[in-house]
Amino acid sequence: MNITVFDNHEALSQAAAELVIDEIKKKPDLIVCFPTGSTPIRLYEILIEAYQKGKVDFSKVRVRSVDEYVGLSQDHPQSYAFFLSIHLLSCCNFDPKNIELINGAAQDPQAECLRYAQKLKEEGGIDLILDGIGENVHIGFNEPADQLYDHYHLESLSPWTRQVNARFFESIVDVPDQAMSVGVLDLLEAKTFLVLSSGKKKAEVWRRLSTENTLSTRFPASLLKLSQNVHCLIDQESASLMASDKVGK
Ligand code: F6R
Repeated sequence: MNITVFDNHEALSQAAAELVIDEIKKKPDLIVCFPTGSTPIRLYEILIEAYQKGKVDFSKVRVRSVDEYVGLSQDHPQSYAFFLSIHLLSCCNFDPKNIELINGAAQDPQAECLRYAQKLKEEGGIDLILDGIGENVHIGFNEPADQLYDHYHLESLSPWTRQVNARFFESIVDVPDQAMSVGVLDLLEAKTFLVLSSGKKKAEVWRRLSTENTLSTRFPASLLKLSQNVHCLIDQESASLMASDKVGK
């Protein structure tokens, strides 16, 4: 796991955009998983600007899911598919036939996770995945627990995650209690995994990552240390409690 600290959210978003564009130039039909959440929104704006200036071509990029709420169809305003569509996919020249997101509204969610995991396996795995990090140390929707999953799976959302995500819904009772999520091995085996973190509210996560020397399923983000393909782009505020000798490690 490598960590680079940037002055602020703008600088890390610019750097992340450059990395994404470079990866697409190297492999125009790469398989990429884009996350939702507040952190990547500026990155998506920069990617859209780059596309409008002719600096990147998304026409061959294959888009897959990081995660999705169970029970929400892709046109539901709170679904992750809808979020990605309005913030990025519909604003650039992604080809709809190359966008295959996990179906949150599938009749049999368990079977849908297995189908999706198999599909990714047959496609050769993820080239590039981006994700934020939860204040409760989740990665993707892999919540702290006694055991974690290898590949795409059903996840029960923690009360904390439902509470935090309630900001996008009318009320917390509307927040689904289950999600489909990329698994930990999917993340660690991705050819490149960019973790984005901005703001003081994530500082405790990075303090723990830089000072604790144990890996635990109760601390899913600690498992990021298992892969050299993980590149964390974090801002000064997120890094403010970190042990300084760990920056760059
Ligand atoms: C989103 C996802 C989550 C978020 C994390 C941080 O698809 O998988 O792990 O990345 O909860 O969210 P923000 O960016 O809102 O702080």
